[in-house]
Amino acid sequence: MSVFSSVHFDDHEEVVFCRDAETGLNAIIAVHDTTLGAGLGGCRFWAYETEDEALTDALRLSRGMTYKAALAGTGRGGGKSVIIGDPRRIGSPDLFRAMGRFVEGLGGSYIIAEDVGTSPADMAHVRETTRHVAGLAGQSGDPSPATALGTFVGIKAALKHSTGSGDLTGVRVAVQGLGHVGWDLCQRLHSAGAELVVSDIRDEITSRAVREFGATAVGVDSIHAASADVFAPCALGAVINDRTLPKLKAKIVAGSANNQLAEDRHGDVLAERGVLYAPDYVINAGGIINIAHEGKGYDQAEAFAHVETIGKTLAGLFARSAEEGVAPHRMADRMAQEVIAEARKKARLLAA
Ligand SMILES: NC(=O)c1ccc[n+]([C@@H]2O[C@H](COP(=O)([O-])OP(=O)(O)OC[C@H]3O[C@@H](n4cnc5c(N)ncnc54)[C@H](O)[C@@H]3O)[C@@H](O)[C@H]2O)c1
Repeated sequence: MSVFSSVHFDDHEEVVFCRDAETGLNAIIAVHDTTLGAGLGGCRFWAYETEDEALTDALRLSRGMTYKAALAGTGRGGGKSVIIGDPRRIGSPDLFRAMGRFVEGLGGSYIIAEDVGTSPADMAHVRETTRHVAGLAGQSGDPSPATALGTFVGIKAALKHSTGSGDLTGVRVAVQGLGHVGWDLCQRLHSAGAELVVSDIRDEITSRAVREFGATAVGVDSIHAASADVFAPCALGAVINDRTLPKLKAKIVAGSANNQLAEDRHGDVLAERGVLYAPDYVINAGGIINIAHEGKGYDQAEAFAHVETIGKTLAGLFARSAEEGVAPHRMADRMAQEVIAEARKKARLLAA
């Protein structure tokens, strides 16, 4: 396993391999960039097949957190941790306490939070051994409502850019996935007068959306092909791919799912076809913005007002993307890099 020569290595500041034999903890903490603040990012607990796979996830996801935080204006940097193993088999309170000790050892360069395979209850055990933890029960709470709010304002910004109006009355939105984020988003869209087309693998939740929102339910294999103005992926990653692209009818893709583009080139195809794509890590930053507010003494009204700035960020991004002829997913990376470069420049000037 190589770190410095990995294609996913991007001048990460710290990559720490953590082992606690007693609890069976094998973990990797990757702190990508702390120019803007401590690296904030979730702890993923997953039965990776190989250590290389775990390292790749830690490197790739921590870099993604740097970019996400930069455009979300959270005053945080990017970090991520992965615990290797099956959480149901080895996820004991002692293992999380051991993880907390490693986080504490980094002296605050990494702030851990929950992610796939971990919960607020696990983070409470982490809290016993480190102060550098966010997303605890009783603080900012479930991030999903904030993510849904950010996605909602992001859809309106995309609509405004495309049509000149952010009014959702009569706009058809196809929502894939009616989970924590998707359901809340549907409520907001319905209240704003949008017509909903929905899909979920859970029939009971789609039936409920039909009853409560007058939504049209479609099969999980055809939601991307629905006749709609907006396609909002809120379930899975890689939904924009070679198979779905030819069938896509919506002129806007804007949803909360992570890693919506199977590959970067699919974002280029969207742009070539005149489909406006709201880059996933920009539109779905509501949750991380909400959590980042814990550091300032959490105030929901303040945090949600910050989440709403996602609309303005996307409007600026779409405008620059059009002006410079750069697809939105590439423009997002460029803008994030600019924010970090500017902060580095300021820090150098202050130090001089
Ligand atoms: N929760 C957050 O704050 C947050 C923040 C950032 C990004 N995201 C991303 O947003 C997406 C949704 O998050 P969530 O918290 O609502 O997750 P969730 O698990 O609560 O909901 C996902 C929903 O998608 C459904 N689903 C699964 N496979 C499907 C398929 N093939 N077709 C249609 N529906 C399917 C599930 O049944 C479930 O209802 C995920 O990609 C997540 O990574 C969430």
